[in-house]
Amino acid sequence: MELDNFATWLEIDLGTLENNYRILQEATGTPVMPVVKANAYGHGLEEVAKTLEKAGAKWCGVARIEEALLLRNAGIRMNILVLGYTAPQRVQEAILNNISLTIYDPLVVQAYAQQAASLDQPLDVQVKVDTGMGRLGIPSEKALEFILQVKEQQGFHFQGIFTHFACADDPEKPYTQLQLEKFNMILGQMQSQGIRPELIHSANSAAALNFPLARFDIVRCGLALYGLSPSAETHLPEGIKPALSWKTRLISIKQMPSGHGISYSYQYFTKKSEKIGVIAAGYGDGLRRQMGNIVLLHGKRVSVVGIVCMDQCILQLDHIPDALVGDEVVLIGKQGEDEITATEVAKNWNTISYEVICGMAARMPREYIH
Ligand SMILES: Cc1ncc(COP(=O)(O)O)c(C=O)c1O
Repeated sequence: MELDNFATWLEIDLGTLENNYRILQEATGTPVMPVVKANAYGHGLEEVAKTLEKAGAKWCGVARIEEALLLRNAGIRMNILVLGYTAPQRVQEAILNNISLTIYDPLVVQAYAQQAASLDQPLDVQVKVDTGMGRLGIPSEKALEFILQVKEQQGFHFQGIFTHFACADDPEKPYTQLQLEKFNMILGQMQSQGIRPELIHSANSAAALNFPLARFDIVRCGLALYGLSPSAETHLPEGIKPALSWKTRLISIKQMPSGHGISYSYQYFTKKSEKIGVIAAGYGDGLRRQMGNIVLLHGKRVSVVGIVCMDQCILQLDHIPDALVGDEVVLIGKQGEDEITATEVAKNWNTISYEVICGMAARMPREYIH
């Protein structure tokens, strides 16, 4: 019987991650800013950042200052951009830890400036422009005025300008082109005033791959870096592979009599005498509590039956006669000739692969392999 340290765990292939990073840089001809927010899309913030810093990354993007500080505490030295909101009270921490903040709101800028005033070192700021995403960002028509205000603001270093696309995963839709035109218009206005910050950027994975003119100085890649495609219409460059696998082991096998209820609320009853297995993965680990989940055992697809519990779920094993307690079970990843991708799981859960991998619970150990 095979035994592991863990009931269920994630395997993160850092070699694959590094390879994906290099391939993306080569394919786009542009430096990549790895986006490592949300625990590096479930892959593990510090390990992923360390790997990519070693591979040459000069920047990484996070959503929150807490994530940036975790990186600094782990010894990450590359530039870090907080892409989301930071409370003004955290500005001094940002300055002292060389963390760049995103700004987009004139009132918040004033609050930041007050905080920055008492330190000698300026706050590195990057202006986010809403060219059409309808989320964070100074509206395009107000961007130049805002930038001029930021540039003159004492205690600030105007380091960059960026935008974010709403529909870059669908290259047929005209919206990305329209957003790009607005962004270019602002860049033109800046140029005519002689303003050129160090960093101009706009592309997420989809835009980096589908819209070469959106690449500018650096591309902010998350999903593609982890080896997944943002959409069926977005083609990953040759050689990019998923870096994450989710595994567990069979922890029980029983022959159940016909008509036996399975799991909470008895949403499944055995139809005859059935071979029923249990695996140590449940919704507390990130498995969606719904019917229709599939896993791999002995390289074959096996159905989860009955409702998913917090720490376990139950398998129908009739077609795996030689299954043994201790056998490895794959929820995401390859086994034998078959593979269940996060994209397939997402389809099954009626969501996107982003949500599947970001939903991998913190309690699951991450095993890093090369
Ligand atoms: C502002 C910003 N840039 C870049 C990314 C990376 O996106 P993707 O994972 O699609 O590459 C995200 C992720 O949501 C984001 O919010």
